[in-house]
Amino acid sequence: MQLKSTTTSYGTVAVVLHWLSALLILGMIPLGFLMQRADEGTQLLLYRMHVAVGAVVLLLTLARVTWKLFDTRVLPVPGLAGVHVWGMIGIHGLLYLGLLALLVSGVILNVQSGLIEVIQGSSIEAIPDLSGFTARAAHGNLARIYIGLLIAHIGGVIVHQVRYGHVLVRMGIGTRQPAAAISESGADGDEIERHR
Ligand code: HEM
Ligand code: HEM
Repeated sequence: MQLKSTTTSYGTVAVVLHWLSALLILGMIPLGFLMQRADEGTQLLLYRMHVAVGAVVLLLTLARVTWKLFDTRVLPVPGLAGVHVWGMIGIHGLLYLGLLALLVSGVILNVQSGLIEVIQGSSIEAIPDLSGFTARAAHGNLARIYIGLLIAHIGGVIVHQVRYGHVLVRMGIGTRQPAAAISESGADGDEIERHR
């Protein structure tokens, strides 16, 4: 696999950034719910982890968006009906926008509530009650909307994987079947890219 994407599959950089971000985000959701119910001894550690991993996700997202500006645009899965293409593009866009909104609301809540000082250790107070903050309600609602988007994204991938058989390969999972590669464009996409 080459660093840059081709018109038919994602390159190493996009694949690594996708799966690393996915792993961290999928961990952040249960952590966000569980940390509030944790006992006093572990709660601060879990809040610190949530904020630190959030910062890493933010950096990865910035890297991902920047890389996208220079990367080759991967075309939609061939054979997909127009409505599915727009659905897929829409969900991908909303996954980026939703993530940005989650990260921004998390940071605002952290700063507004003074939680940041507790997390950094410059205040010895306990974790403050965050329930009255608008950013807290926004963050919680956005997290639930994001779970819905992820279900739609993963569901869509599974449906298209079952129907066309080579969607996961585009994102670096498994190997390309020769028949699938040929039916996509009449030639291997990587081959086309090498001759561009
Ligand atoms: C938090 C979790 C996830 C997020 C935020 C996410 C986000 C995205 C985004 C934004 C894209 C568009 C390509 C890009 O910009 O990099 C994409 C593509 C893709 N994702 Fe995910 N994803 C997640 C989890 C998953 C999981 C669990 C699967 C496996 C079922 C998956 C499979 C794929 C595949 C196969 C593509 C390529 C679709 C195509 O062929 O164009 N993703 N994902
Ligand atoms: C990948 C991005 C993120 C995801 C998926 C995520 C997810 C979640 C979830 C699911 C909750 C629980 C919501 C609820 O119970 O209603 C939560 C709460 C919270 N998150 Fe995040 N979060 C993210 C980023 C951040 C960031 C960057 C910060 C801070 C800088 C942050 C700070 C908080 C705080 C302070 C709470 C509230 C806990 C409380 O009410 O005691 N989050 N998050």
